[in-house]
Amino acid sequence: MKTIELEPNQVHRGTLLLVNSEHPFYDSQMNGLVNADARTPDILIRRDAANILQLILQHILAKGQIIPVSGYRSAAEQTEIFKDSLRDNGEEFTRKYVAQPNHSEHQTGLAIDLGLNKGKIDFICPHFPYEGICERFRQTAPKHGFIERYAKEKESITGIGHEPWHFRYVGYPHSEIMVENQLAMEEYMEFIKKYTPEHPLVHEQKNGRKTRVYYVPQDKEKTVVAIPETTAYQVSGNNMDGYIVTLWGEQQ
Ligand code: DAL
Ligand code: ZN
Repeated sequence: MKTIELEPNQVHRGTLLLVNSEHPFYDSQMNGLVNADARTPDILIRRDAANILQLILQHILAKGQIIPVSGYRSAAEQTEIFKDSLRDNGEEFTRKYVAQPNHSEHQTGLAIDLGLNKGKIDFICPHFPYEGICERFRQTAPKHGFIERYAKEKESITGIGHEPWHFRYVGYPHSEIMVENQLAMEEYMEFIKKYTPEHPLVHEQKNGRKTRVYYVPQDKEKTVVAIPETTAYQVSGNNMDGYIVTLWGEQQ
């Protein structure tokens, strides 16, 4: 075993950050942002998310039919979007479809709004129907790490209206576990806390490859996590109170 030590502020870093009305985004030092797509040079997302987005678009042969509409937003941009929407669309609509500044997933660089590349595209609510190439994207996304984040039946849990166009990169296999268990990200964060280093969640792919996932609560000082020597791993803060550890490869 090797041990890794996590500083308290690392709980606000990673691909599994829960950002919503209760949990703001803290990390102001954004780096690792790249173009989401060559056609939209101003729309940035995190490099890991951009790579996977392009992989999915190639895999489903989207051939330009799907276009990014909004990716990374700074706090200042989210403030402007919120204010503009209040002015143009009123309070009810805005609270349903636009997160408060510092409470938007778009500030993490892990969220992307996508539109069907046809006609005029609405910036806040782009058309991304449950059919054709958009549905193909939606079905394929969780196999690679993206989820449709704001489902109709989860409105009361996410606090955001149904957004068929908003996708969030959480990483594989978390995306697939959420879909298989019909969990909103908020619910997944609670669900995963049951799993410990001794009793991890074991996710098995069709090809038999296994991934183990567990939760480690944050300590006041440094949090120490033990990882098997030869295993590929990833650790993400949950933006609240602990870390989600993902281990690939066979149990030691
Ligand atoms: N439309 C989503 C909720 C945002 O503004 O972050
Ligand atoms: Zn969005």
